Amino acid sequence: MVVTVVLLGACKKDKVPTNYDQDLTEVLQAASPSGSKTSYVMPESNDYANLPNQDATNPITAAKVELGRMLFFETGLGLNPKYGVSKQTYSCSSCHVPSMSFTAGRFQGIADGGVGFGDHGEARVKNNQYGGSEVDAQGARPLPTINLTYVTNALWAGSFGSFGANIGTESVWNQDSLVSINNKGLQGLEANNHRALIVHRQVINKDVTDSLGYTPMFDAAFSDIPENERYSLQTGANAIAAYFRTILTNRAPFQRWLKGDNSAMTDQQKRGAILFFDKAGCKNCHNSPSLNAMRFEAVGVNNLYQSAYDVFATNVNDKRNFGRGGFTQRDEDMYKYKVPQLYNLKHVGFYFHGASKTSLREVVEYFNAGVPENPDVPASQISNKFKPLGLTPAEVDDLTEFLTNGLYDADITRYAPTSVMSGNCFPNNDPQSRRDMGCE
Ligand code: HEC
Ligand code: HEC
Repeated sequence: MVVTVVLLGACKKDKVPTNYDQDLTEVLQAASPSGSKTSYVMPESNDYANLPNQDATNPITAAKVELGRMLFFETGLGLNPKYGVSKQTYSCSSCHVPSMSFTAGRFQGIADGGVGFGDHGEARVKNNQYGGSEVDAQGARPLPTINLTYVTNALWAGSFGSFGANIGTESVWNQDSLVSINNKGLQGLEANNHRALIVHRQVINKDVTDSLGYTPMFDAAFSDIPENERYSLQTGANAIAAYFRTILTNRAPFQRWLKGDNSAMTDQQKRGAILFFDKAGCKNCHNSPSLNAMRFEAVGVNNLYQSAYDVFATNVNDKRNFGRGGFTQRDEDMYKYKVPQLYNLKHVGFYFHGASKTSLREVVEYFNAGVPENPDVPASQISNKFKPLGLTPAEVDDLTEFLTNGLYDADITRYAPTSVMSGNCFPNNDPQSRRDMGCE
C-alpha cells in the first residue's frame, strides 16, 4: 500500500501542471509600475471619478456621455460635404464602426465621398462623382476610439492635446490652423474632437441642434456654459470626449482574470500573457491598463500609400509618413509612432498605421523577427527594443492567442446607441449603406 502511494506520488510529481496564475501574477508584479497587477485593471465605465486624464474644463457627467454617444453617430451633422449628394450621409463612426471595435472595417476610412457599408464597413467605396483627393480619408489606418481615457495626446503622431507628451512642443502649435487648438489648454480628446468635426465636414450650431432635436440635450449637458457658446463644435467635441472615456474593454478575459477570476483565461492565454510581460518584451512599450503608452517609437513599418490597396488622399509627401516628426519637426522624432492600445484587435483585420499586416499572427511574427520592413526608415531611428526575440512557433501561437482572445471584450457594441435624435440611419446614410444596413 505504502509503495503504491509513493509510486503514484512520484508519477504525479513529474506531471504537476505549471501554476500559470502564480507565474503570471509574478511577471505582472515585476512589470507593473506600482508593483501590483491591479495597476492593469480598468475602472467600470460609469465610475466617472476614476476615469483618468479628464479635462479640467470638461468633467464627465452622464448628460455629456449620453449626448456624445449620439453625436458620434449622427449623420445629420454631415452638413459640409464636398458635393451636395453626400449631405447628411456620413458621421464620425463611418470610420469608427462599433462592431469593428470602432475602426473602419477596412484599411482606410472614408466618410464624405464614400458610399456603401456592407456588414461592418468593409464594402465602403469611393463615390464616382468624387475625385480621389476630394474624399474625406486620411493617410493612416483609423485608430480605434476605445480605451481613450488612457490617451492624453491624440493621433498616431500625438499632435492634439496641450499636456502630457506635448509639453515642450509649443513652438510648433501654430504650424497650421488645426494644431493651433493646442494653444487653448485642452486635453487630447477635447482638442482632437473639435478639429475632427471640422476635418470630417460636420457642423454644430444652434440651428443644427434645433433642427435635429439636440438643443435640450446640450442644455442638460452644458447648463454652465453661456447660451451663446453652448451649441458649438467645442461643446459637441467635449460631449464626445466624455463618451469616449467610458468606452472601456473592461470585460475582456484578461481584465476579468486581473480582478480575480482565474477561470476567465485559458492556459494558452495565460502562457501568452506571461510571454507578453516577460520574455517577449512587449511590456517594454505596451504597459498601461489598455497596453498603450504616450511614447513614440519606430518599428519600421510601411505607410498606407506604400500598400497595394486602392487608397485616397495620401502620397509619398503625406506628413503622416513621418509619424511624430511630422508634427514636432524634430529629427529625433522622425518615423516614430505612438504606442497604441492592444485590446479588441481580433476582427480589425488591418494592423499598424499603414495597415501593412492583416492578422495578429503576422504582427507577432514581425516583432519576433525584429527586421524593419520599410527601407525608408533609417536604422538609427529604429527602437533598440525592436530586435529578434527568438520565440518558438508554439510561443508565437500562445502570444497570438492572448492578443486575439485574451484581450477581446466580446460585448463592445454595448457602447453604441440604438438610435440618434434625427432618426437617420447611422453610421452611414447614403442609399447603398441604407440598403446594406436594412434602413429601408
Ligand atoms: C474619414 C475617416 C474618419 C472619420 C470620419 C473620423 N475619423 Fe477619427 N480617425 C481616423 C483616422 C485615420 C485616425 C488616425 C489618424 C492619425 O492618427 O493620423 C483617427 C483617429 C481618431 C482619434 C485618435 C485616437 C487615438 O488613439 O489617438 C480620435 C479621438 C478620433 N479619431 C475621433 C474622431 C471623431 C470625434 C470623429 C468625428 C468628429 C472622427 N474621429 C471621425 C479616421 C476618421
Ligand atoms: C519598441 C516598442 C514596442 C515593442 C517592444 C512592442 N511594440 Fe507593439 N507597437 C509599437 C508601436 C510604436 C506600434 C505602432 C507602430 C506603427 O503602426 O507604426 C505597435 C503596434 C502594435 C500592434 C498593432 C496595433 C494596431 O492597432 O495596429 C500590435 C498588435 C502590437 N504592437 C503588439 C505587440 C506585441 C505582441 C509585442 C511583443 C512581441 C510588441 N507589440 C512589442 C511599439 C512596440
